[in-house]
Amino acid sequence: MSATPGITPLLQITYPVVQGAMLGVSTPEMAAAVSNAGGLGSLPVGGLSPDEVKKLIQATKEKTARTFAVNLFVHEVPEQRAAVAFNKMQDFLESTCRQEGFPFERRTPESLKLYSYLDQVEVLLAEKIPVLSFTFGCMNDEVIRALKKNGTVLIGTATCLEEAQYLESKGIDAITLQGVEAGGHRGSFLSKATLPQIGLMSLLSACRNVIQVPLLAAGGIADGESVKGALIMGASGVQIGTLFIPADESIAIPAYKEAVLNARDVDTVLTKSISGRWARGINNKLIRLITDSGIEIPDYTLQNSLTGPIRKHAQQINDKEFVAMWAGQSAGKSKKGSTTAIFHQLIAAAGLG
Ligand SMILES: Cc1cc2nc3c(=O)[nH]c(=O)nc-3n(C[C@H](O)[C@H](O)[C@H](O)COP(=O)(O)O)c2cc1C
Repeated sequence: MSATPGITPLLQITYPVVQGAMLGVSTPEMAAAVSNAGGLGSLPVGGLSPDEVKKLIQATKEKTARTFAVNLFVHEVPEQRAAVAFNKMQDFLESTCRQEGFPFERRTPESLKLYSYLDQVEVLLAEKIPVLSFTFGCMNDEVIRALKKNGTVLIGTATCLEEAQYLESKGIDAITLQGVEAGGHRGSFLSKATLPQIGLMSLLSACRNVIQVPLLAAGGIADGESVKGALIMGASGVQIGTLFIPADESIAIPAYKEAVLNARDVDTVLTKSISGRWARGINNKLIRLITDSGIEIPDYTLQNSLTGPIRKHAQQINDKEFVAMWAGQSAGKSKKGSTTAIFHQLIAAAGLG
């Protein structure tokens, strides 16, 4: 069993396996462990300040001399900060916090500092990033040109054929096909009206033989068979997130790790309630309360900022009911252990090593 050519030489890795970036879960230690083991580790920096981005990149470089990816969110920062929707949601969250005994501090939409990928580009160029992966859209032509001139390999995220064709037309070097099974935010960006909800098998069928750049399959891949299946279906490699959530190097709180380990196939939902953008995670009280309230959900990233302090407090007290437990449909396949051990087991089970 071997992958179709393309992704391992392009990324200068041994195995066609990418640890998907997971903001709030992945660490420099996790990314470096996967890269040192022969895969591609990914460092999430979506929405972080340029200073934080620099520190995280440097921390990862200290732990590995091998190629790793830095991962960005390429979204529009909401300009029209709809104050009415913001305040209605804030009222609701404030009363929820009162009932739950959580602290709450009111804020105005203007007080939130929201970083765009454009704020981060300078640091990425200065740090000479070997691989840059991104989701939620496509960078502008000028940034694409500058990064490519700097020697950076670009990997975009698509959730339907049209998005994959768009990324290819922009000169993106490889594309992650994110099936609806995947944990975390949907990368969808072309249609505001309808969310593509295409399963990984159908997505691979639609894109292979049409898209010429290497394709990474993502969503629900968590064991040797699913890796082999994705490669047979025409993927050049796989991208895996949820499997690494319980790893020693993950910063997920213990209650979240347990929920992932014990998850049944029916336990995740697609929801906009936590961040204002569609994402898949394990259902909990925060999702249910916001969904059932029927209150308009402000756009990403405003809703993300509004629920942020609640999630932070819940993290501090290890309360799984009020954090975001982003996870994919194969969450229950995950196991405890070091990132290196989880990675090696997968490679062996897939017959790659
Ligand atoms: C907790 C969590 C956080 C995620 N954060 C990001 C992120 O910051 N950037 C990104 O491109 N993808 C993100 N993803 C998607 C993963 O990189 C990966 O594509 C996905 O997890 C693959 O599906 P799986 O979870 O079924 O393995 C996240 C996924 C999870 C589960």
